[in-house]
Amino acid sequence: KKILVLHGPNLNLLGKREPHIYGSTTLDDINEGLRKKCSELGILFESVQSNYEGVLVDKIQAADGDYNCIIINAAAFTHYSIALRDALAAIRVPAIEVHLSNIHKREEFRHHSVIAPVVVGQICGFGSDSYFVALEAACRIMYREAG
Ligand code: DQA
Repeated sequence: KKILVLHGPNLNLLGKREPHIYGSTTLDDINEGLRKKCSELGILFESVQSNYEGVLVDKIQAADGDYNCIIINAAAFTHYSIALRDALAAIRVPAIEVHLSNIHKREEFRHHSVIAPVVVGQICGFGSDSYFVALEAACRIMYREAG
């Protein structure tokens, strides 16, 4: 099984960026933790961070037929990128939406996710643990599919 983890804009700054909201864990810490967990589970792991919408669209398109599940923190793109939503809707790979913060208890403009209708489900509010909860969900989806 293969999992693709996509991180959107400004997530390269995790650890330094508004730590009272996003915590002190860096993106490298998160990716290393996910990589370790995946290797224990015999899952191939790839991760991409980009500040560019088009790079993420390209990665989503290319994932079709290559990955069994996508975990995506689209960051600010969550709230307005119809391009990311359309890309996720165009492929057969199931996707899980992740946020470190609980977007529903923050500013009004963060309450709405344009990608939520095209993913399996959304996990938010657990800090960096949100990614690990998503990995657990991904395993359930992938192995349920396999029967
Ligand atoms: C975020 C929440 C978004 O609203 C914000 O723009 C981010 C990070 C999160 O992980 O909590 O950049 O996706």
